[in-house]
Amino acid sequence: MHQDVQEILFSLEEIQHRTRKLGEQISRDYAGKTLILVGLLKGSVPFMAELMRYLTVDVRIDFMNVSSYTGAQSGQVVIKKDMEQDIAGKDVLIVEDIIDTGNTLYNIKKMLEERKCASCKIVTLLDKVESRTIDIQADYVGFDIPNAFVVGFGLDFDEKYRQLPYIGILKKECYE
Ligand code: IMP
Repeated sequence: MHQDVQEILFSLEEIQHRTRKLGEQISRDYAGKTLILVGLLKGSVPFMAELMRYLTVDVRIDFMNVSSYTGAQSGQVVIKKDMEQDIAGKDVLIVEDIIDTGNTLYNIKKMLEERKCASCKIVTLLDKVESRTIDIQADYVGFDIPNAFVVGFGLDFDEKYRQLPYIGILKKECYE
């Protein structure tokens, strides 16, 4: 275990097992359809790579990178990198690493729906339900977690720890 990690919440095996279940469920729900996966950079990369291995439907992938602002500009998200495909009339599944306040996903979902996709759903590996300030739910959730700062499997603090092959709680002294 990394020295900055206080406790491992989910091992690689647990993440893979749960992701496989999600993949099977999504494959059933979208049977016969073409699905566009939109990964939110950068945190969703390992989860998306894992998830797509278990999808048996026809899949296209794309990525967006957005910044969320809090404080004076609260509620705003700015697109740093947009997706490349035209999603009008298509079924879209946004792939996220974690939902915290819900601000980022609320805004991205609204943005993608304005592009007239046929459907827009959300899959997230982790959900911090207690931290939600905006009413938005994911359609598919890997794990509910308590309100702690977690890293690994794509999740970072200051761009560190993304490569850890598990999800762990970061020691407080590393970010306070
Ligand atoms: P929201 O807009 O508040 O839901 O924030 C979602 C984003 O905040 C995620 O995509 C992460 O980048 C980041 N985030 C929230 N909680 C954590 C955490 O515990 N560890 C790492 N990143 C987090």
